[in-house]
Amino acid sequence: MRILQSLWLTLLLYIAGVNAGLVDDIVNGLKNSATCAACHGLLVPLKLLARFGDRPFRKTFVAVCKVATSFDDDVCEGAVGTQAPILAHDLRSIDPLGQTAKKLCDALFGLCQPPAVNTYRVPFPRPLPINPKTFTSSGKAPFQVVHFSDIHIDRSYAPGSDSTCSKPICCRNYAGENQPPISPAGPMGSRNCDTPTGLAHNFLRTITNNNKFSIFTGDVIEASVWLANRDDVTHDIKLFTGEIATIPGAPVYAALGNHESAPTNAFPRNTTKKSNSQWVFDSLSEGWKPIIGPVAAQQAAHLSGSYSIVVPGTNLRIISLNTVYWYKNNWWLYDSNNAQPDPNGILQFTVEQLQVAEDAGHRAWIVGHIPPGRQDVLRDQSNYFDQIVQRYRHVIAGQFFGHSHQDEFMVGYSDYNRRTSETAVSVAMLAPAITPRGSNPGFKVYDIDPDTYEVMDVKVYRSDLFSPEFQVEPKWELGYSARDLYGRHVSGLQPHESLGPVFWHKVTEAFERDNGVFDTYRSLKRGGGDPGTCDAECKRIAICDIRAMRSENSCTVSKPGIKLRRGLSEDGTDQAHDLLPQEDCEGPGVIELLQVATHDLSDDGWERLRTELEAIIPEGQPTDDPDNREDD
Ligand SMILES: *[C@@H]1O[C@H](CO)[C@@H](O)[C@H](O)[C@H]1NC(C)=O
Repeated sequence: MRILQSLWLTLLLYIAGVNAGLVDDIVNGLKNSATCAACHGLLVPLKLLARFGDRPFRKTFVAVCKVATSFDDDVCEGAVGTQAPILAHDLRSIDPLGQTAKKLCDALFGLCQPPAVNTYRVPFPRPLPINPKTFTSSGKAPFQVVHFSDIHIDRSYAPGSDSTCSKPICCRNYAGENQPPISPAGPMGSRNCDTPTGLAHNFLRTITNNNKFSIFTGDVIEASVWLANRDDVTHDIKLFTGEIATIPGAPVYAALGNHESAPTNAFPRNTTKKSNSQWVFDSLSEGWKPIIGPVAAQQAAHLSGSYSIVVPGTNLRIISLNTVYWYKNNWWLYDSNNAQPDPNGILQFTVEQLQVAEDAGHRAWIVGHIPPGRQDVLRDQSNYFDQIVQRYRHVIAGQFFGHSHQDEFMVGYSDYNRRTSETAVSVAMLAPAITPRGSNPGFKVYDIDPDTYEVMDVKVYRSDLFSPEFQVEPKWELGYSARDLYGRHVSGLQPHESLGPVFWHKVTEAFERDNGVFDTYRSLKRGGGDPGTCDAECKRIAICDIRAMRSENSCTVSKPGIKLRRGLSEDGTDQAHDLLPQEDCEGPGVIELLQVATHDLSDDGWERLRTELEAIIPEGQPTDDPDNREDD
């Protein structure tokens, strides 16, 4: 029925199919895009536009960006212009009124709430054992593991250039910069800017001391997303993997981030013929090979960057996952009406590797970039991953992610209707970012029990961007120990007990009871400072979101506004990641969210847009075969 309906609508437009009609439909569609139904309505003319080919579609999106946002023209061209052809491909492939379209209306426009999860039972080779192996600590001294994330090294960082600019990241020699610069970029880093090589090297020297190994949860590439191209990304991956492979001492086990592609976030599924990301997987595989060995490197090449390895000398299996196939802003995920429960076989690989660990009596850690339980994660994928966590919760001793640029955690439950310390079964640690773009660079050091591979303590280190020595030689100082800080607010924590899901659930109960503890957490989350206000509703949502390793149970709702850039939710955390994924640079320097919504654009603006589109959108009718229009 739905498809028939949409065909009718398309046909009607088709008959009316003159340029002026289509321009009107798009402009009016954007103007009135206030509801989910209106969003579906807007996708109908956009689909028709896509059938004219990538070119007019791209130009239309770029025109909207130029007219409706304050981004520089080159940023609109580069960022929006490179993502738009993927959206055109999607629309040519899907029913504008169907479920995939609804997901797109959520992810791209924030106009629909995500649809209910499509039921799918993840297949397991064996059921949960009746008496699963338990792991107990014999009280041996813990070893240390460094967890760092989101290093975003900017190889074009130019000390002395301006750290205030009209681009999403600064500190580069852009044409037309203020002369002299208003606020010159320091050699070791500045707010609004990604990590200079000097800071990255300083950090890598710091972590070689005393830890057994490190985990890096992704995002090597800087956030100049409007300039991202395959050559630079390949080059930067090569440089960084070379750097971590040659630092003396402890190995660094890495995971792939959503910035490790060009265009950013763009990872086609292996069911699309139009494009693939094999070049990314090959670059990472080659760069990681000296660290993870040939077998795991083969996995990375063939399994979209995922691999699994037993840490030498331990009974701990690290499973490093490509998480971009659960990322809402990977626009390639919307090119089929049919749900794909396991794009590129990532879930199946996870199950296989956890089964291997269970059979061997080993424990496992999940290491990935995008945490599975946030608003920016597709609910289907999150639900299926959660099934795996439930099945292998005895094997999984830790989960580690990044992406939010913040010092956070999230708890998973066996019963999401009753989220208590009895049902808490898994906890994920999220590391802050190394990039000083939005907050002081930071990383976590875990004390790990050598019998259970569980986390005994979390120590967070930060470097103060504004301290006088920072620009000479950044110092990394212990901010706090989670065991010390939160332990005293949690009843019954025994000395040899790990900081597991039950502990962290109790920490959220302390947040509920005690605003002081909650505010301390909110401040530490961004590396210190005034956390701002958070009323009862904001607090409810924040705690609910921590208790949601499954995104369908998160309490943040989608909000309107085409996501040309990052948006902030009430509690100040980043929720929306976008066509211009600026995730998580918060605080000073944040550009206001610009929404393509009626109230934001003046009548003049709409007229200007209409005039632009009239010059872009072709006359006549698109050709019949949509695939012929897949021009780039
Ligand atoms: C996609 O990759 C997975 C994992 O390697 C594989 O099982 C599946 O057959 C592939 N699908 C296609 C259409 O190539």
